Amino acid sequence: MLVNLRDICAIAEQNNMAIAAFNTPSLEAVRAAIDAAEATGYPVIIQHAECHEDIAPLDVIGPAMVALAERSSALVCVHLDHGESLSYIRRALELGFNGVMLDGSALSYDENVANSARAAAMVANYDCGLECELGSLGAREGDVLNDDPNAPEGGAGAIYTDPDQASDFIAATGADLLACSFGTVHGLYRGEPQLSFEVLDQIRARVGTPLVMHGGSGVSDEDYRKAIDAGIRKINYYTYGVKYAAESVCGLVDERRAAESPVYWHDMTIAAYERLLADFTDVMKVFANGAAPLA
Ligand code: 13P
Repeated sequence: MLVNLRDICAIAEQNNMAIAAFNTPSLEAVRAAIDAAEATGYPVIIQHAECHEDIAPLDVIGPAMVALAERSSALVCVHLDHGESLSYIRRALELGFNGVMLDGSALSYDENVANSARAAAMVANYDCGLECELGSLGAREGDVLNDDPNAPEGGAGAIYTDPDQASDFIAATGADLLACSFGTVHGLYRGEPQLSFEVLDQIRARVGTPLVMHGGSGVSDEDYRKAIDAGIRKINYYTYGVKYAAESVCGLVDERRAAESPVYWHDMTIAAYERLLADFTDVMKVFANGAAPLA
């Protein structure tokens, strides 16, 4: 059943847990995320990133996401991840998405505030919550982290969220959730992620809205728990899940070739679905942070 972004994060707040927010640019990923939620009893966010338009156009995958979320027994939010323009956000809202993100992190602070406030005014007409971003992670989903030796901890181009600016930003925009930069990076990590819990604690001390971790896959279970205890309520998870799924498909192909057996496309989609389901189920249990299943 559909639960909007504000309400699903309120559940996370009440239970000191984080909601897994899986990017789902394929039917296998949509099904795996919803099935993992039904199997574990925890709410889930399925999300489509604008930069994944070439993998699955919003008009194609969006209606499937909404339909499968509506008929699920689990609590599901259907979210637009990294919306870059107000027109794209409007398209998601009209498809029935009940969470959207306006990513103004590449803009100047003033432009980010102005665009985020415009998104808030648009979202106010729908049963929908709004996520905005302040600071920058410096890389995108599927990227390999640049190993520039002069890069800040989060990687080349990363700018940590300024805690004082964060409270002004929320007051000026009315965003429901804040995506913040404190050392995680989109894509593959080259070494151990170095998270700044000091920055996160300072943001939490100044901002009452739920906080979002982007670049969430590839982080250790210990760091997930520390981040959740420090106020992270939504964890965006993509790259490592699809990497494991691809490895599983490659393993299947190798096995069939070694046995000189045919391999069909549907064998690959099934293998990918099963690997995603296993990974998503494990991840949701960690993000629950000890909370009992809710459904
Ligand atoms: P990863 O692909 O690094 O897990 O990040 C996902 C994300 O933050 C989507 O917005």
